[in-house]
Amino acid sequence: MSGRRFRSRRWVRQHASSLSSLGGVEIGGVQLASPVMTASGTAGHANELGSYFDTSLLGAMVVKSLSAQPWAGNASPRVHPTPAGMINAVGLQGPGVHAWLKDDLPALVAAGVRVVVSVWGRSVDEYAEAARMLADAVPSQVVALEVNLSCPNLEGRRGIFAHDAELSAEVVAACSVARLPMWAKLSPNTDRVVEVAGAVREAGAAAVTLINTALGMVIDVETGEPALGNGGGGLSGAAIHPIAVRTVHDVHQAIPQLDIIGVGGVRNGVDAIELMMAGAKAVQVGTATFADPCASIRVADEMVAWMQSHGHTSWRELRARG
Ligand SMILES: Cc1cc2nc3c(=O)[nH]c(=O)nc-3n(C[C@H](O)[C@H](O)[C@H](O)COP(=O)(O)O)c2cc1C
Repeated sequence: MSGRRFRSRRWVRQHASSLSSLGGVEIGGVQLASPVMTASGTAGHANELGSYFDTSLLGAMVVKSLSAQPWAGNASPRVHPTPAGMINAVGLQGPGVHAWLKDDLPALVAAGVRVVVSVWGRSVDEYAEAARMLADAVPSQVVALEVNLSCPNLEGRRGIFAHDAELSAEVVAACSVARLPMWAKLSPNTDRVVEVAGAVREAGAAAVTLINTALGMVIDVETGEPALGNGGGGLSGAAIHPIAVRTVHDVHQAIPQLDIIGVGGVRNGVDAIELMMAGAKAVQVGTATFADPCASIRVADEMVAWMQSHGHTSWRELRARG
């Protein structure tokens, strides 16, 4: 494997042993050795981070959302820094499921990474097509399907899938064709998140991933033009962390039996512990990876240190406090 590995073998052994002493997490129908994953769209489609650290130490890597067919994404510029994070309108660029299976997945499998595959579509049928292409085509290391519902529905005028409980449930039900444990990734840009979470659970989602980016915009005052080629975009990073904590908390309080993966502005172990105290059983690290490619494994290490210094012997104890 090319590139630098920032962690020594000794560190890797110690990290793995500390993680196993905490017993792993059972989340959305899947057993993971670590509660920390990368967030979709922030760690590529393959094992790009493998040149920085041993990615098999992660709970899982969630790959960038894939559509059934290749998709070119939005006009550039696609990303822009903000005072406490970044804004993006990448527009879900991707090679399509078939090319991903052939060109990208083998590197993840060879590196021993547990993979969560994320899909998107512009109609219920497009989601179903992507899910169908995965059925029986993935090895056992692909542990779950994350259904990214923060996409516009081009059928009729029904807006963003994740803002509509009935439509979100339709998509999740259609994606069951993949025959993988399903996680539904929801949007914070609605006051209906609890309702949507309940609907996707009824439709077969074993967990919800909270949250995707918050709608935002940056304007260059010299030109009067938006900073992103698409105009608006999705805000991520530290700025949205309190939104993620609140969303996780509200869904957990309303539906305590539903597994939650918390994501949004996690930069360190304490941010991740906070999401778990709010009700998440696992976390994902996104924007922080752009500043520090090792952010996800560092967060895991800091969480373990926090657990040990606070006398906790299992992740379950931590969640029971929330
Ligand atoms: C550049 C970029 C691309 C993203 N692409 C996807 C994507 O393809 N699918 C998805 O579900 N979420 C996507 N997200 C959202 C992240 O997975 C995550 O939910 C969000 O950024 C909040 O977490 P963070 O603050 O740790 O980044 C993307 C985020 C960024 C910054």
